[in-house]
Amino acid sequence: MTPTFDDHRRLERLFEALVTSAHEGDPLALRERWSEFERDLLQHLADEEATMLPAFARQRPEEAKRILAEHEDIRRAVLALGIDLDLHLLRESTVRELVHRLREHARREDASLYRWVHREVDPWRHPHVV
Ligand SMILES: [Fe+2]
Ligand SMILES: [Fe+2]
Repeated sequence: MTPTFDDHRRLERLFEALVTSAHEGDPLALRERWSEFERDLLQHLADEEATMLPAFARQRPEEAKRILAEHEDIRRAVLALGIDLDLHLLRESTVRELVHRLREHARREDASLYRWVHREVDPWRHPHVV
């Protein structure tokens, strides 16, 4: 399904929960939060790539390329941190860095990709954008 701004807000709540768990240091809670975060985030990236980015790339190829490259970086980072988590080596500061990068990525998309989708493709599903 085509993502909307609400997906970024929903993911933001997962980021918050993940940072809180990393801070509290309960490994079981962190594992649970991580699984939810990883599943939803990877699905979100796949949905953007399947539904929004192909058309966006025809209009704004450089920006689309940049977003796709960021997706690859994000996937690599999530994989690496998942391995750290399995080895009980995942640090709060590393989680915070990842969440910071994800927020930057979402902000960038809000201002470019989502704004474009709202204007050009599907205004009814993106009512928050002006
Ligand atoms: Fe994205
Ligand atoms: Fe996104």
